[in-house]
Amino acid sequence: MIENDIYILGIESSCDDTSAAIVDGNGKLLSNVIASQKVHELYGGVVPELASRAHQQNIVPVVSEAIRQASISKEQISAIAYTRGPGLLGSLLVGTSFAKGLAIAMNIPMVDVNHLHGHVLSHFIIDDDNVEVPEFPFLCLLISGGNSQIIKVESPDNMIILGKTIDDAAGEAFDKCAKVMGLPYPGGPHIDRLAAVGNPNRFKFSKPHIPGLDYSFSGLKTSFLYTLRDNLKEDDAFVVNNMADLAASLQHSIITILMDKLHKTVIDTGIKTVAIAGGVSANSGVRGAVAEYCKKNNLKAFIPKRSFTTDNAAMIAIAGLFKYRNNDFCSLEKAPFARVEI
Ligand code: KG4
Repeated sequence: MIENDIYILGIESSCDDTSAAIVDGNGKLLSNVIASQKVHELYGGVVPELASRAHQQNIVPVVSEAIRQASISKEQISAIAYTRGPGLLGSLLVGTSFAKGLAIAMNIPMVDVNHLHGHVLSHFIIDDDNVEVPEFPFLCLLISGGNSQIIKVESPDNMIILGKTIDDAAGEAFDKCAKVMGLPYPGGPHIDRLAAVGNPNRFKFSKPHIPGLDYSFSGLKTSFLYTLRDNLKEDDAFVVNNMADLAASLQHSIITILMDKLHKTVIDTGIKTVAIAGGVSANSGVRGAVAEYCKKNNLKAFIPKRSFTTDNAAMIAIAGLFKYRNNDFCSLEKAPFARVEI
C-alpha cells in the first residue's frame, strides 16, 4: 500500500533518552534523532529529576533536527505520536506536554503510544537495512531494564502477555550484578563486552524453578552476590582477576533462563516466528542464542538493529502510524501514566 504525503512525528521521553523520529505513511524511517543523557553515569542510575530537566533542554533541538533530517517541513507532519507510558512521570510529562503544544499549534491529531508496544512494533520500521517485517501472529521476547515478557503479538493493537518476570527484569539482573562488580551504569553493555572473552562455564549460579512461562532473576542475582562475597573472603582481587569469566558466566545464566521459557512458549503456542526487542536484545549472547535456536528449530527470527533496541522515537512513530491508519487518535485531556502493562 502506498500512502504518500503522510508523515508521523514520534516523540519518546519515557526515561533518559530524548528522541524524535519521522516515518512516512509506508513505515519508512526518514530520521531518528536521540539525545542520551550522560549526567546519570555519575550517580550509578537514572535520577528522575535530572532526567526531566535534560528532556526540557533537549526536546526542542531534537524535534527540530528530526524534521530537518527527514527533509520535510513541519507543516507536512500529519500527526504526532508520543510515549504516554510506562516510564518516569516527570520525563513523560515533558514529551506529552510538548506533543500537546505542537498538536494544538499545528492543528493536527495526536496518537498516544504505549512504550512497550513501541518496542514490539520496532520490527515494522522500514529502513535501508530492513525491508522484511514479521507476519502476525508472532512471539516477542521483550527484555529491557524494566520489563521481561514473552508476548503473543496477534496484531499491532492486540498483544497478549504469556509470561513475565515475577521479580527483576533481565536488564536489572545485568545492571545490578555489574554494579557489584564495580562496573559503570548501565552495566549490561559492559557485561556483554567482557563476556566475549570469558568462560561461560567457569561459575555456576542457582537456577530458578518457576512454573509456567514466568521468569525470575532475583535468585540468580543473590547467588551471584554470594559467589563474589565468598570468594572475596579468600582473595581481595577475586573480582578484578575474574572479570571476564564472571561476566560470561552471568550472561550465560541469564540467557539460559530466557531461552528455557522461550522454548516452552514456542512448544505451547506452535508459533513459528520469534522476535526480540528492548535494551537487552542488544546483547550479543542473547542475539546469537535466539538466532541459533530459531535456525535449529526452523523458526523465522527477527533480531532488531541495535539502534532500535534501546529507547528511540522511531518505534514510537511506527506504533503511532498503525493507530493513525485506524483513526485511533487521543484527546488533549489524556495524562501520561508511569505504570501499565502491554
Ligand atoms: O529498553 P531499554 O533501553 O530501557 C528500558 O528499560 O526501557 O533497556 C535498558 C537496559 C539496561 O538494563 C541495559 O543494561 C540493558 O538494557 N542493555 C544491555 C545491553 N545493552 C543495553 N544488556 C545486556 N547487553 C547489552 N549489550
